[in-house]
Amino acid sequence: MLPRNSLLARDADPATQYFSSNPAPKSLQSHTTLAREFINYHHGVSPDRRLVLVTSGGTTVPLENQTVRFIDNFSAGTRGATSAEYFLQEGYAVIFFHRQFSLLPYSRHYSHSTNCFLDFMDEDGLEGKPGSVVVRKEYQEKMNYVLQQYHSAKKNRMLLLLPFTTVTEYLFELRSLATLMQPLGNRAMFYLAAAVSDFFIPRDKMEEHKIQSSEQSNGNITDQPTAGKQLVINLDPVPKFLSTLVSAWAPSGSMIVSFKLETDPDLLLSKAQQSLHRYHHDLVIGNLLATRKWEVVFISKEGEKWIRVPKARRSKSFSGLENLVGKIEGKAEDTPVDLDGG
Ligand code: PMT
Repeated sequence: MLPRNSLLARDADPATQYFSSNPAPKSLQSHTTLAREFINYHHGVSPDRRLVLVTSGGTTVPLENQTVRFIDNFSAGTRGATSAEYFLQEGYAVIFFHRQFSLLPYSRHYSHSTNCFLDFMDEDGLEGKPGSVVVRKEYQEKMNYVLQQYHSAKKNRMLLLLPFTTVTEYLFELRSLATLMQPLGNRAMFYLAAAVSDFFIPRDKMEEHKIQSSEQSNGNITDQPTAGKQLVINLDPVPKFLSTLVSAWAPSGSMIVSFKLETDPDLLLSKAQQSLHRYHHDLVIGNLLATRKWEVVFISKEGEKWIRVPKARRSKSFSGLENLVGKIEGKAEDTPVDLDGG
């Protein structure tokens, strides 16, 4: 007869099995403490205070436990960081759960490699003598605006930044955050813009050390001698956590918005509709990799609705996403929006 815990493990749903067979991340406890304080503070501050968990950036799948190599998911964090700014503007407290070193609300305007912050600066020293560092005149107005919003969010404790890197960190922490948000009921929202890995290597099949190119490896990865220096990687499926989030972790009455990324235009609508049908949440926002900055489609119980930025406005860098946030709440006018700001 099998011991009781192996019976339980065998019968458990895929999400439960995932958590029992992969170790919790080191950051879980400290992040849980920070999130609990933040949620309790906003829960107590006013009965009208709404709180949104914005996920942003891509998760990684390490190939080794002492990780040198990993598989990444596409996402710079633009969608999440921009949306977080507009949620803050609408009065939401925001937990910004993001891939470490991806774009952040406010600093995103100046930190990207094509938008280096040093290019916004000058120094006013005369005849080669060092002076003060100043913001160049042409950028003063916009930077002042961004700075005021940033300071206001910090002063009023409206923004909590929590980083993740791997898909395992993401999933353990998502479960913890959603569970902590339970007391908020319908004042909670989930805005799941992160690009989450669909495949991974379970901990018990992962190499401990850097995979060597010249010798046979153990576990899930084999350097096949007959195939030259080919590296063959077997990945297990990551369970679809949206299902468990909707049915068990998230507070009842909360609003759950997921994103669907595709590259094939012929698949986008059907995959987004399938997601809404399968997980029974509130809204799927579909986007194509090639056009994600200019158009998205909202799929909800009410049907399908495209939101597009007119061609003439596509180069403008700073407008409009409040309308997307407003549209989620069903109160914005039917106007086109700039989906990503900068
Ligand atoms: O950051 P940017 O560069 O601006 O790019 C933004 C974006 C294109 C990444 C963003 O708009 C977007 O589409 N994010 C979702 C990408 C994604 O993971 O899509 P998907 O089709 O693989 O997953 C769909 C849904 O299933 C997601 O809500 C995801 O949270 C969920 N999922 C995914 C994997 C998994 N194992 N379990 C899940 O529940």
